[in-house]
Order: sequence, then C-alpha cells, then structure tokens
Amino acid sequence: MSTVRACLFDLDGVIVDTAKYHFLAWRRLAQELGFEFTKEQNERLKGVSRMQSLEILLEIGGKTFSQNVKEELAAKKNLWYVEYITTMKQNEILPGAAEFLLSVRQAGLQTALGSASKNAMTILHNVGLVSYFDSIIDGTKTAKAKPDPEVFLLCAKELNVDPATCVVFEDAKAGIEAARNAGMHCIGIGTKEDLPDADLVVPSLASITLEQITQLF
Ligand code: BG6
Ligand code: MG
Repeated sequence: MSTVRACLFDLDGVIVDTAKYHFLAWRRLAQELGFEFTKEQNERLKGVSRMQSLEILLEIGGKTFSQNVKEELAAKKNLWYVEYITTMKQNEILPGAAEFLLSVRQAGLQTALGSASKNAMTILHNVGLVSYFDSIIDGTKTAKAKPDPEVFLLCAKELNVDPATCVVFEDAKAGIEAARNAGMHCIGIGTKEDLPDADLVVPSLASITLEQITQLF
C-alpha cells in the first residue's frame, strides 16, 4: 500500500484569490463583445488554459473570430488581468494556505505547484510564496491543458515520487479530472456541488488536516 509523499497545489483559487480577477477580466471582454457572462458560466473556465478559456467564452457569447483576432482578444484579457495582479500582496493568500504549506513540509512531505497559468511566477513573487514549493510547474512548462494530467505528472517527476503517492488540491472541475487522470488522490477546494468527483471537498486549506490526507491512502 502506498503512502502520501507529496502535496501538489493548483494556484488560482487554491493558494491565492486570483479566480475573481480572471472572472473580472473575462467578463470585461464579454461586455466589450456585447454579451453577459455570469459567475456560473465562469466555473467552466476555471483551471482551463487562456486560449481554451477564450474558446469557451466565445461559445457562450455565440461569437466566431479568426485565429489572429482570438490571439488579440486573449492578449487584451491578459493585460487587464496583469493589471489586477501587479498590486497583489500577501493579504491575498487564501486562508490557511501558507500555514498548510509549512505544516506539510514540517511533516516531511514535498510540495509542488501545478498551475495552468503563465502568470504563476509573478503571482508567487508578489505574495512571497516562491520558496514554499520544492517544484513549480506552470503554464510556461506545459503543452497540454487540464484535464490532461501533464502538469501534475511533471510535478511528480520533478519531485521524484510515484504519482500514486501524490495528493492534488484543486478548485476546478478540469483540475480534479487532471488529478484523476494522473492516478492521484484529489481534494477539492470549494463545494461538493461544483466538485462532485473529488475524494473530499473542503471550503479552504484552513479546514484540512494532515490526518485527513493520510486517511485517503
Ligand atoms: C488557471 C486558471 O490557473 O490558469 C484559469 O484557473 C486560467 O482561469 C489559466 O485561464 C491560465 O492563466 P493565465 O494566467 O496564463 O492566463
Ligand atoms: Mg484553480
């Protein structure tokens, strides 16, 4: 029987409160294109890469554009998003996240970041969490978006651990699926309603204990 060796964390919506900034920037783009975009619809974009998020948004709005225009639209959304995150400080670390990362390491487990975001390093620097991770795999190092397991398998590879000994913390449906596809355990951050396929769902990293994690194995 395997035991837990590493905890792999998604970034947006798990470690930092950036999911709201992604939503604000996509909604601003939708408004500019002349349609409404709701919080419920935004669930489909969570964990998904920038270009795929745009595809989903355009499908929702019933819009089609050439590849060139789509790249311009994604770049525009990213400019707005980067504006929101440049002023981020430590107080935007989600409740319990920093403390949990420390306790995981104190217990002798490894930590990794597994994020689809190309802005991950900027965010980690701004909130002072770079040194909390033994490995950082972000959107600049992956070719396939979640629910593909690539990002989490790369984390396991870099940490030199068996995927079956990893636990993933995710706030997105696509991320839970990616963890499952990687053969890993997964804990949802959010509600059971949004994340029905997680092994366990908690509202934040403030409400999970190491004991609960070891019980998954
Ligand atoms: C994920 C977010 O972490 O990163 C998605 O959940 C986002 O909403 C994706 O689209 C890509 O992020 P970025 O910063 O590269 O546009
Ligand atoms: Mg997320």
